[in-house]
Amino acid sequence: MSTSDQETKLYVPSEAAVKAAHVSGMDAYRKLCDEADADYEGYWARLAREFVAWKQPFTQVLDESNAPFFKWFADGTLNVSYNCLDRNVEQGRGDKVAIIFEADDGKVTRVTYNELLTQTSQLANALRSMGVKKGDRVVIYMPMSVEGVVAMQACARIGATHSVVFGGFSAQSLRDRIEDAGAVMVITADEQMRGGKQLPLKAIVDEALSLGGCDTIRNVVVYQRTGGKVAWGARDKWLHDVVAGQAITCEPEWVEAEHPLFLLYTSGSTGKPKGVQHAGGGYLLHAALTTKWTFDLKPEDVFWCTADIGWVTGHTYIAYGPLANGGTQIVFEGVPTYPDAGRFWKMIQDHKVTIFYTAPTAIRSLIKAAESNADVHPREYDLSSLRLLGSVGEPINPAAWEWYHLNIGGGRCPIVDTFWQTETGGHMITPLPGATPLVPGSCTLPFPGIMAAVVDETGKDVPWGQGGILVVKKPWPSMIRTIWGDPERFKKSYYPADFQGKYYLAGDGAIRDAKTGYFTITGRIDDVLNVSGHRMGTMEIESALVSCTELVAEAAVVGRPDDTTGEAICAFVVLKRPRPTGEEARQIAKQLRDWVGKEIGPIAKPKDIRFGDNLPKTRSGKIMRRLLRSIAKGEQITQDTSTLENPAILDQLSQSN
Ligand code: PRX
Repeated sequence: MSTSDQETKLYVPSEAAVKAAHVSGMDAYRKLCDEADADYEGYWARLAREFVAWKQPFTQVLDESNAPFFKWFADGTLNVSYNCLDRNVEQGRGDKVAIIFEADDGKVTRVTYNELLTQTSQLANALRSMGVKKGDRVVIYMPMSVEGVVAMQACARIGATHSVVFGGFSAQSLRDRIEDAGAVMVITADEQMRGGKQLPLKAIVDEALSLGGCDTIRNVVVYQRTGGKVAWGARDKWLHDVVAGQAITCEPEWVEAEHPLFLLYTSGSTGKPKGVQHAGGGYLLHAALTTKWTFDLKPEDVFWCTADIGWVTGHTYIAYGPLANGGTQIVFEGVPTYPDAGRFWKMIQDHKVTIFYTAPTAIRSLIKAAESNADVHPREYDLSSLRLLGSVGEPINPAAWEWYHLNIGGGRCPIVDTFWQTETGGHMITPLPGATPLVPGSCTLPFPGIMAAVVDETGKDVPWGQGGILVVKKPWPSMIRTIWGDPERFKKSYYPADFQGKYYLAGDGAIRDAKTGYFTITGRIDDVLNVSGHRMGTMEIESALVSCTELVAEAAVVGRPDDTTGEAICAFVVLKRPRPTGEEARQIAKQLRDWVGKEIGPIAKPKDIRFGDNLPKTRSGKIMRRLLRSIAKGEQITQDTSTLENPAILDQLSQSN
C-alpha cells in the first residue's frame, strides 16, 4: 500500500478571493458539509429549490426504495432547456452574450440568450414536426458549434433523450451507439473543420447506417458547416430547411425529474461501451451548482471549458452548467495547435477569458510546444484577464500544475483540480477557489454533500495515509441512474456485492493525505485506460484487434505511463503468421493501428504494437497482464513468474520491433 504525507507547499487563497467567493473560506465550506451531514436530504432539497426552476415543485427528495436505482425529486417536474434559456431571458439577460463562438479559422460569432432561445425553439419545433417525441433517443454527431449546443438544448426542450457521440469516433462505433440507444434520428454536420482540415461527418453517418442494425433511424438532420459535397438520400434533411418557417417560440415539455435527459456512452472494463443514463432534475442541479461554486462563476465572467460536447465535460460545463447560471462562455471549434500552439493563449487574450478549464494532456503538450518555440510561449500573450484555472480528466502531475499556475495563471490564479466521471454528472472531489488551500497533484476535498471515502476490499475505511478504493457512501442527485438497457451491468459495475451493494464504486484508487485528509487519485483499478483524458477499455481495443481475423490470432492491451498523454496504449499481438520483424513488423503494426482507428476511432490507436509467438500465460491459460504492463514500461521483470507456462516469451516481447 502506498503512503502519503503531504510536505508540499500549500497555496492558500488570497483574502480578496475568499471575500469575493460564493463559498467564502474554509469555515463556509465546513458549514455546508455539516449541513449535509446533519440533514442530507434537507441540504439537497434546499439547493434544488435554489438552483432549479420547477414547474411542479417536488415533495419527495431521495427515494431509496429500489436501491441502487435511486430517485431524486421524483414527483417534481421541470424542463432543463427552460432553466438554461427562458429563465435567463425572463430575468432580463436576453441580450447578454451566452456563447462566443470561435471557428477553426478564427471567425468569431456572438450569440445572445434571446438568440439561443429562438434557435433552440425553432429546432425543437422542427424535431416535433418530424415526429420526435418525449423519450425518443436522438444521436448527435456534431462538431463543436453553437448548433451542437442548440441540438442538445432542443432535445431537452421536447423531452427527447440525446446521446452525443464524439466526432472522432468511427462509423462502427457510431453504429453501435445508434443501435444500442435505438435512436430515431441523427443530427450531424456535412463536415467538421479541425486544424484547417475538412473532416467528414455526414459520410461517416451514412457509412454507420449502411452497416445495418439502425432501422430505428427515420431522419438524418444535417447542419451545413463547410458546404462540402455529401451524398443525399430520402431521409436526409438540411438543418436550415427544417427550421425555416418554424415558430420562434416552443412550449417546453414538462418532464418528471427522473426523465432521462441524456445517455452518454463510456468505456468500462468489460464488453462494449455502456450508455450512462442521467436524469434531468438531479443532473441539472449539480451542473448548475458546481459551475457556480467550483468555478465561482459571476455574471461578468468569461468562462471557457475547452472540452468537446462529445464528452461529459462538454455536457456539464458547456451545454448545461454555464447556461443554467446565465454565464458567458467560449465555444471553440478548433484545436490548440492551429494555426500554432499559442492558439489557447491568444484566445484567452482576445476574449478576456477569466476562467479557463482544460485537461492536463493539453497543458503538457503546450508546455512542450512553448519550450521548443518561444513565439508560442504564454509570456508572449496578455493573460491578465484570468482569475481562475481548472483541470479535469486525469491526474495532473505537480510539475505541470506548477507550470500552469505560474505561466498561465501568473502565479495568482487558483487551480481547481476537479475529479469526477461520466457517471457522476459533475464534480465530486475538488477545491473551491475561495476556500480550499491547494496542493499540486491533489484534488483536495469532496464537494459539499458528496460522501467520498477510501475503503479496503471489504468496504472498511482505511486510515488516512493509506491507499485504497475510492467509493461514495451516499447517493447524490447527479449520479448515473442506470446503464441504458442493462440494469444488471449497472448494479455489478457500480454497486458490487463487495460493499453489500451500498457504496458507489468509482473504479479509481485513492489515498488521503495523512495530515490534511486531502484526496489524491492514484488511477483506475480496473482495465480502463486514460489516454489524453479519454477513457478506453483495454477489452474494447483487444476485441477490435482480434476482429481483424485475417491477421490476428490473439491480442492483449495494457497501458503504460506517457509524458504527454498520461497513459499510452500498448498492444501485444500474436499473428496468424510467423512473427514479423523489422520493416515487415512496422508495416503490419501500421495496418493494425489503422484497423483499430476504423473500428473505434483514431483515439484508440495503440502507440506501441509488439509481436510475439505467444502471450505470457498461466498454466490455466490466463494472460498475465501485470507482466505485460512491466514489459510495456520497459521494466526489468522482478515479479514472480513461477506460474508462467512459457517464460521465454518475456524476452521476446521485451525486444521492441
Ligand atoms: O480515472 C479518473 C479520471 O477520469 C476517469 C473518468 O473519465 P470520464 O468518465 O471520461 O470523465 C472524464 C471527465 C470528468 C476517472 O475515473 N479522472 C477524471 N478527473 C480526474 C481524474 N483522475 C485524476 N484527477 C482528476 N481530476
